Amino acid sequence: MDILLWNKILTPYEIAVREIVYKFDRLKSEYQMNGEYCPIEQVSGRVKSISSILDKLHRKEIPIDKMEKKLEDIAGIRIICQFVEDIDQIVEMIQNRSDMKVKTIKDYVKYQKSSGYRSFHIIITYKVETLDGVQKIPVEIQIRTMGMDFWATIEHSLQYKYKRDIPEHVKDRLTRAAEAVCALDSEMSAVRSEIMDAQLSSQLLHHQVAEILMAIENLYTVASKREIQKIQDEFYRVYEKKDMNALRKFHRQLDMISEGYRTQKMTDFGKDPRKYEVE
Ligand code: GTP
Ligand code: MG
Repeated sequence: MDILLWNKILTPYEIAVREIVYKFDRLKSEYQMNGEYCPIEQVSGRVKSISSILDKLHRKEIPIDKMEKKLEDIAGIRIICQFVEDIDQIVEMIQNRSDMKVKTIKDYVKYQKSSGYRSFHIIITYKVETLDGVQKIPVEIQIRTMGMDFWATIEHSLQYKYKRDIPEHVKDRLTRAAEAVCALDSEMSAVRSEIMDAQLSSQLLHHQVAEILMAIENLYTVASKREIQKIQDEFYRVYEKKDMNALRKFHRQLDMISEGYRTQKMTDFGKDPRKYEVE
């Protein structure tokens, strides 16, 4: 197999990874725009390197012409979340999507691996449109908490360092670290609603402030400089309090002021003889 063929084979996997990462990123933005808590913290993706593919084929004694049929992780997506509960929500989200067909599920969160590894794996098939037509690409989606990801990253580096033969005393440490991550995840779950409330409030505050500033900016075309200055000073005063209700009230008042200017403009327009000329 020459390098050109590899490129041709791997291109649809590359497309699948890019499209899926983009779609999850967009979902994340949608949650943020709606002011809702987002179960996705971070999304990344990769296409397996040619050397890793060759290693795996060798390790699993798979002939190279069976590669695309047997290797289901050539395209890989990783979704990191804050809480264990978020994993279920993401899984449900994937199951309900029309563009991702769930093929297999491996729940290493409930059934932790003997290594200590925890993560939720879903193999999906994803349709990629190419010049040669539609190709159904298998994609492995790994969903895990930040803690689980930390552990897996460290353990993976150690596997690499010790060529998959980690010494017993290091293994013991990893087992204890895995237990600590488990405990951390449950501690975080216990305060989940409080953490979520705090994060949402800060998100809502940013949203409200952005909207107010936009409304003030819109006034520039209709109001006098002095009035805008007054409104801006008042905004800074209200903002200092970091009180959502006060900000909301200020926003409503601002809307009323804008509405007043709009009505005035319409009335002026009604009086304008040129209006009739246009009609
Ligand atoms: P691999 O040959 O390792 O790909 O395993 P598999 O194809 O039989 O499937 P499995 O579900 O066991 O593993 C899929 C992927 O999960 C791996 O490629 C890793 O990214 C990750 N994984 C599985 N087990 C472990 C583990 O013990 N440690 C770490 N760090 N990652 C793991
Ligand atoms: Mg793998």
